[in-house]
Amino acid sequence: MKLLIMGRPGAGKGTQAVNIREYYNIPHISTGDIFRANIKGQTKLGKEAKEYMDKGLLVPDSLTIDLVKDRLSQEDCQKGFLLDGFPRNLEQAKALDDFLKANNDSLDAVLDIDVKPEILIDRIVGRRVCPQCGATFHIKNNPSKVEGVCDVCGAKLIQRNDDTYATAENRLKVYDEQTAPLLDYYKNQHLLKTVNGDQDFAKVFEDIKKVLTK
Ligand code: AP5
Ligand code: MG
Ligand code: ZN
Repeated sequence: MKLLIMGRPGAGKGTQAVNIREYYNIPHISTGDIFRANIKGQTKLGKEAKEYMDKGLLVPDSLTIDLVKDRLSQEDCQKGFLLDGFPRNLEQAKALDDFLKANNDSLDAVLDIDVKPEILIDRIVGRRVCPQCGATFHIKNNPSKVEGVCDVCGAKLIQRNDDTYATAENRLKVYDEQTAPLLDYYKNQHLLKTVNGDQDFAKVFEDIKKVLTK
């Protein structure tokens, strides 16, 4: 399975990616997670990416495309992968197509988790994440058992730096301008599978499995 998972900020890409990764036994590659790990590790890439991420802007392609190609070249991606948050503009999509073609490869499907923008700000500002194991919670929709503490590993939950009202609004705008055109790009390639993301967590995953086995 070689998959992309797309959707507006807060649509549930990361949440469903955990299910898909386990169900299909493929690595989950999130460019956002890779950048955040670099910020935490205070690498050169992390310092550069942070400037853009904190404003809700896309990190430049020059820092992003080669990073993904390198990751996809690793052994664990040869049988399949789930890309989350990449591609985010036409240049990235074309670079991915060229890379796969050069390896005699192609995508199996592009999942679009569709959620109307109105409810996404609430999902984004209410999100809490575990800095240690990466688990994701929501103060209302999916609260941890003990407030502020990760159910999985017991670490103290944090809020992402870009999960503020102002930055979330900007991320949604950037999505509309730069990422939304990719839906037509993949529709034209007959790869696009749209799932309603404004449903219960488990129902969204049921629908994902349904469209992927069709
Ligand atoms: P990235 O990390 O990719 O963030 P994003 O696209 O904004 O998406 P999110 O991670 O915010 O949302 P999600 O869809 O994963 O939602 P989640 O499952 O957590 O990118 C961050 C930044 O990095 C970008 O702005 C950019 O600067 C940079 N970047 C990354 N990739 C790049 C690239 N390719 N090129 C350039 N720059 C790049 O869910 C959200 C919340 O909702 C959670 O609290 C969850 O519990 C809750 N929730 C989930 N599903 C449901 C449901 N069904 N019902 C109720 N609540 C739900
Ligand atoms: Mg995510
Ligand atoms: Zn944890």
